[in-house]
Amino acid sequence: MSSDHTHETDAPPLTETIAPGTASDPSVSGTERATITVDGTDVTVESGSTLLDAVEAADTDDTVPALCHYDREDEIGPRSECRTCMVETDANGVVPACSHPAEDGATVRTAADPAAEARDVNLDLVLSDHNLRCTTCGKNGRCELQDAAIEQDVDEPRYGVLDDRDAYEPLDDTSSFIQIDRNKCILCNRCVEACNDVQVEGVLRVEGSGQDTRIGFQSDVETMEDSACVSCGHCATVCPTGSLVEKGIEDATTIPLPGFTQKNSVGKSHERHGKSKGPMTPKKRVDSPATEDSPADDPDDADGGEWP
Ligand code: SF4
Ligand code: SF4
Ligand code: FES
Repeated sequence: MSSDHTHETDAPPLTETIAPGTASDPSVSGTERATITVDGTDVTVESGSTLLDAVEAADTDDTVPALCHYDREDEIGPRSECRTCMVETDANGVVPACSHPAEDGATVRTAADPAAEARDVNLDLVLSDHNLRCTTCGKNGRCELQDAAIEQDVDEPRYGVLDDRDAYEPLDDTSSFIQIDRNKCILCNRCVEACNDVQVEGVLRVEGSGQDTRIGFQSDVETMEDSACVSCGHCATVCPTGSLVEKGIEDATTIPLPGFTQKNSVGKSHERHGKSKGPMTPKKRVDSPATEDSPADDPDDADGGEWP
């Protein structure tokens, strides 16, 4: 065997040290199956699992929300942004369950006072950046923030809600496919990761700082219509709140009060100026043959083509 050949076969694959996820994700890397005691129940989880996986496997009585974490189909996060998933461990005290590796022999208490209090405070902080106009929200009844608030018995968030403090941001109604209501955004970053790392479209970003932090567009434009969005809808799929909602269902679960909608409850909104594209997914867009009344490829067609 030549030394060249030996060198080739010994070389590790280039991807060996590149873990899935984004550069800013905390590393989650258990090496073996691990048995964790969660609230007195032993559960065994696969290597690479987190304490959140162990808590879910144990199916504890205590609910541990995980608002910035998304593990359906595409793994998004852990981001460790919201800290609504805090649990108490013997070895490390109170830690975010979504990003803490499940180490063999660890003991977790979800109901321990410091952990429960940390989850409550952090959930109240998240709520303080949110308008709680659930009755006019298209995600009413299928919103992860609403679920978490109900499960954690939040009566009144201790830091108030957005209505108490700030002027509303205009609702961005310019895209034919996605509506953005930043007044409901909890800055969990799921949409940014879905757009940049899963769809690889690079449209969204987090911009600004402090109270002015918001979801914006990498191309420095102000509205979805002017962005490079291809209307794949992934951001709306992963958004835990009513901040990013697919058009057509943005009012779907609004309590039907005559004349009272998500749009007019917010006040101002950016309206489209007619250049918006329809969804890129062929299944979601039915191109009609051109007729005098409805030219199929009219760039000024404000509805972006006919949709089923
Ligand atoms: S719909 Fe647009 S903004 Fe949302 S993930 Fe797709 S390309 Fe990105
Ligand atoms: S728009 Fe939705 S997914 Fe994006 S950061 Fe805000 S709450 Fe999270
Ligand atoms: S889900 Fe753990 S920090 Fe947000």
